[in-house]
Amino acid sequence: MTNKLAPIIAPSILSADFARLGEEVKNVLDAGADWIHFDVMDNHFVPNLTIGPLVCEAIRPYAKKNGSDVCIDAHLMIAPVDRIIPDFAKAGANLISFHPEASTHIDRTLGLIRDNGCQTGLVFNPATPLHFLDYVLDKIDLVLLMSVNPGFGGQQFIPSTIQKIQQTKAILQAHQEKTGRQIRLEVDGGVNVKNIAQIYAAGADTFVAGSAIFSQPDYAKVISEMRAQLATAI
Ligand code: DX5
Ligand code: ZN
Repeated sequence: MTNKLAPIIAPSILSADFARLGEEVKNVLDAGADWIHFDVMDNHFVPNLTIGPLVCEAIRPYAKKNGSDVCIDAHLMIAPVDRIIPDFAKAGANLISFHPEASTHIDRTLGLIRDNGCQTGLVFNPATPLHFLDYVLDKIDLVLLMSVNPGFGGQQFIPSTIQKIQQTKAILQAHQEKTGRQIRLEVDGGVNVKNIAQIYAAGADTFVAGSAIFSQPDYAKVISEMRAQLATAI
């Protein structure tokens, strides 16, 4: 049995105009985006510094479609990670992802996210092995594969990620066959109109795109081109 979840496009606001962030969030959702990807960096786990719970709370009222909240997908590139998880939950994040290297107790961190009412994501850097999934699949709602080294927008997609997507998809498929539960597979870094179909065909269903969307004047045009590409993939 194949399981193709409906594709999700999650623009990364890292490449948005920070001086007009609420408006950017609204505009990109009006342009057809599904989620808002929220990149949190601490200048420690990654060599850059971005935004935290206060900004998440500030954009929460703008992250809506037809009056309903859309998912704020918080990607935490911070270490240690546990202390600040409840703050992101209170600030309105719906899904919280973290890197296994940033947690001393991965199982405990996943439990903490769920106890705070959010969905969980585990993030894999390009060189991070997939074995961190082995004993925690039942506690994971989304696997996030980095297709660049984290820290900056606008980098090139690393081609070997395609094989890693296929390997991850096989693990998630086997888990679904055993348990009936579907886990999303998200890819982050260097995703654009040209490569999104290949990434989808490899098994991903959730696509983060920062510079590919926010560097263009017409967000709706890019997002509809991405959807047209997805429609061409198997
Ligand atoms: C990188 C971030 C990504 C990044 C994506 O550390 O996690 O979300 O902003 O940006 P693009 O799509 O420009 O590679
Ligand atoms: Zn990200």
